[in-house]
Amino acid sequence: MASSSQAISETHFSRSADGDSPVQHRLAFHGPTSMAISWNTYEAVQTPTIRYGFSKDALIFSARSKVSTTYPTSRTWNNHVIVEGLLPNTRYYYKVKSSSDGSDKSKGQDQVYSFKTPRLKGDRTPYTAALVVDMGVMGSDGLSTTVGKGAANPLKPGETNTIQRLIAEKDSYEFVVHPGDLAYSDYWLKEVVQGYLPGNISAGPELYEKLNEEFYDQLQPVTSEKPYMVGPGNHEANCDNGGYKNYTESICPMGQTNFTGYINRFNMPSAVSGGQGNFWYSFDYGMTHYVIFDTETDLGLGLVGPDELGGGANDNEGPFGATMNAQRDWLIKDLRSVNRKLTPWVVAAGHRPWYISAAAKNLCQPCQQSIEPILIEYGVDVVLHGHVHAYERTAPIRNGTVDPNELNNPSSPWYIINGAAGHYDGLDSLATPRANFSRASIDTLYGFSRLIFHNETHLTQEFVSSATGQVMDSATLYKKRK
Ligand SMILES: [Fe+2]
Repeated sequence: MASSSQAISETHFSRSADGDSPVQHRLAFHGPTSMAISWNTYEAVQTPTIRYGFSKDALIFSARSKVSTTYPTSRTWNNHVIVEGLLPNTRYYYKVKSSSDGSDKSKGQDQVYSFKTPRLKGDRTPYTAALVVDMGVMGSDGLSTTVGKGAANPLKPGETNTIQRLIAEKDSYEFVVHPGDLAYSDYWLKEVVQGYLPGNISAGPELYEKLNEEFYDQLQPVTSEKPYMVGPGNHEANCDNGGYKNYTESICPMGQTNFTGYINRFNMPSAVSGGQGNFWYSFDYGMTHYVIFDTETDLGLGLVGPDELGGGANDNEGPFGATMNAQRDWLIKDLRSVNRKLTPWVVAAGHRPWYISAAAKNLCQPCQQSIEPILIEYGVDVVLHGHVHAYERTAPIRNGTVDPNELNNPSSPWYIINGAAGHYDGLDSLATPRANFSRASIDTLYGFSRLIFHNETHLTQEFVSSATGQVMDSATLYKKRK
């Protein structure tokens, strides 16, 4: 991880805490018996420490690390601890205990949170995962009752937004998969240019971090208790955003260049799955194997990345793999090694779609060229995307041809695109008429998806309206298992 000895210490914006008080707690699975716990502080912490145990009154174990990272335009430090040797499918209570002076007496006080470790690979107990993509900061710095110029679907006064709905429905899912576009803090520029956010362009680094901090503060009730598994999106590295014609890279805060903020903030289980940082990795949960892949960089095969095709001022950079085909090689190796007797379900998630009712420029053809053949070859059941800010459920499909079995034991992957979580720019309208592979679509409601694994043969995907909590679309996939 990138690190720096200094961060911005003085800004005009208020903080949600001070000193070494932990904020923005976030969990991630880290293998079957470990959990990654991360949090931010406004001061560097000497020995980031977690106290934990089976009851909130007996946090008798501890785990620590030396990792406290930041980057020059950030005003917080990211702290990462791996808690190991845990029992599977077990609830643990934890509390951050660390300080800027190396003692265990932090100046700030933290409260006790809890998490549940993953079900062991092979466990057939039904469970539910949440899918959310393209979710930005909510409220007056992001999605509100006003949306950007030319955008649609502002929130109605008092409307429950997706972060609030994820918090309200927290008991209805075990963990969250969020493949790309988190916070939209790079929108500081567009929001300033459009007069939505007070400030000027020279305040970029502060505004970027303000939006970032706000988003992770808002999401903390979810991320402190539910593993939050992320993948990279273009807004983790966009430096040409906002229709700002006088853009030069010199005004782009470091956090949004080459995924710097994203790399520092998260701690995905690539080390235990052979993957690469927060870019590509896999994990197991009960009867499901999950692979997270990167549509932004490292497509391999000599392919030009999606943003280079767009002619933007920045190609989102990378690569992160040691070799040109590192991601593809890993994906093949990972999927080849899945024991479908233990994890009959295989779910793949990557930010940009290649099947959706949208203009050609929104279809990631290089992603399709690089990734689709592998997903077909290894019998991936479900593919999750976002990027286009709407919801669409396709028929199972391969190489552009709809699977004749539809949802009744198809041999092709089934695609769920749900970029409808919401951000400053509202929702996108899908193309009319819809593509021939489209089976359901919603482009006027904010929402997230629930993936309900009933058993080894039946999986239901639901689109949940953020405003009402109602299920607005539901479909069940049947897969015959050998
Ligand atoms: Fe995106």
